[in-house]
Amino acid sequence: MRVLVVGSGGREHALCWKIGQSPLVGEVFCAPGNGGIAKDAVCIDIGTDDIAGLLRFARDNSFDLTVVGPEAPLASGIVDAFKAEGLSVFGPDRAGAMLEGSKAFAKAVMKACSIPTAGFEVFTDADAAKAYIANAAGGVVVKADGLAAGKGVLVCTSREEALEAIDEVMVKKTFGAAGDKVVVEELLAGEEASFIAVCDGENVLPFASSQDHKRVFDHDEGPNTGGMGAYSPAPVVDKAMAGQVMERVLNPLVHGLKKQGIIYKGIIYAGLMITEAGPSVLEFNVRMGDPETQPLLMRCAGDIVPVLLETANGGSIRDLSLDSVASPAVCVVMASGGYPGPIEKGRVIRGIAEADALEGVKVFHAGTRLQGSDFVTAGGRVLGVTAVAGGLKQAIDQAYKAVSLISFEGAHYRKDIGHRALKRLS
Ligand code: AMP
Ligand code: GLY
Repeated sequence: MRVLVVGSGGREHALCWKIGQSPLVGEVFCAPGNGGIAKDAVCIDIGTDDIAGLLRFARDNSFDLTVVGPEAPLASGIVDAFKAEGLSVFGPDRAGAMLEGSKAFAKAVMKACSIPTAGFEVFTDADAAKAYIANAAGGVVVKADGLAAGKGVLVCTSREEALEAIDEVMVKKTFGAAGDKVVVEELLAGEEASFIAVCDGENVLPFASSQDHKRVFDHDEGPNTGGMGAYSPAPVVDKAMAGQVMERVLNPLVHGLKKQGIIYKGIIYAGLMITEAGPSVLEFNVRMGDPETQPLLMRCAGDIVPVLLETANGGSIRDLSLDSVASPAVCVVMASGGYPGPIEKGRVIRGIAEADALEGVKVFHAGTRLQGSDFVTAGGRVLGVTAVAGGLKQAIDQAYKAVSLISFEGAHYRKDIGHRALKRLS
């Protein structure tokens, strides 16, 4: 069969790589893809926001399955458009994608389903939000309601910071219309983890747990990024905790959505705070995490295509599996100089082939472009250097050995990916 993957990041590279290994799959295409994806799939220059173009391409080329990577086309209704034409597509429809597209909607669903989450209020008026903050005890988190490329969340430890955050989001409109509405919620303490699963509308099949590193600098300092590295499994989510997440979060979510008329089919990614009282949901995403996907798919033991296909085609995933090998995997993101601020592009990257040749290593590309026979930088996050090995320490060492073989001008990366897990295991 022929599969089309929509997207251009490290997550989509990992998806193309994994889907391409399926004995069911003859050809993988990616729109628009990137320099490295071009080695694992045929890249087609159609943007992720060009839904009409993607639909035409999928229809004209008789794809058996389209897998949508990022959230924006899902929130814009790409799945509804494909389904209206009878095309097989993996991802939630526009109504389901609201879980990520509107934080106020997600919080209302969690409240209705008694899913553990921080106490909150929703505001469309800046003065009302400020009055609430003036009376709030402890820190709060101010969240722009709409999609803001992962940047619309301001964690505030003091009242002054929170009042400034309201001005930023609702008055200055730093995140545009995403800030017309805000969620103000209680600041939670604990360790974060990502829990990603496939849902067929009824059954929930989890991947292994994982953990992201959102801050740009070592020791979780500096501004938030899309993610500077990830590993799987996350020791903070042991078997009992994973059971709690299924029982208290994912199963109630899917059944609660169904009651509201939303049959959710696709990825559910729960961003969790593991607190003393158990898991609490910080956010839901309707797509896989980037960079969590890279270690998750390196560890995924079987074929993911039957799971994607059954979900897309209205079948059941109840008897399928997404089991992982026991070996941990670690992904270190190498970023362009300046990231997460303005970046330099077009820098020649050296050493990728040498790094890729190391045992257990795969270099997933995010912001790269092929220029003649060279890869050059073309985005903020450039590479996700990923290694799987017998133990966490070995996987970390192998990923950093691979990183040490790669160079480009301005490259920066965190040196402490996996530190929390190592500490927990020691
Ligand atoms: P979100 O996009 O909602 O996951 O928020 C981005 C980041 O902000 C999370 O990964 C957390 O680090 C932090 N955050 C969000 N909500 C809370 C909360 N209620 N308590 C503490 N930290 C939070
Ligand atoms: N790595 C965080 C995210 O994909 O949202």
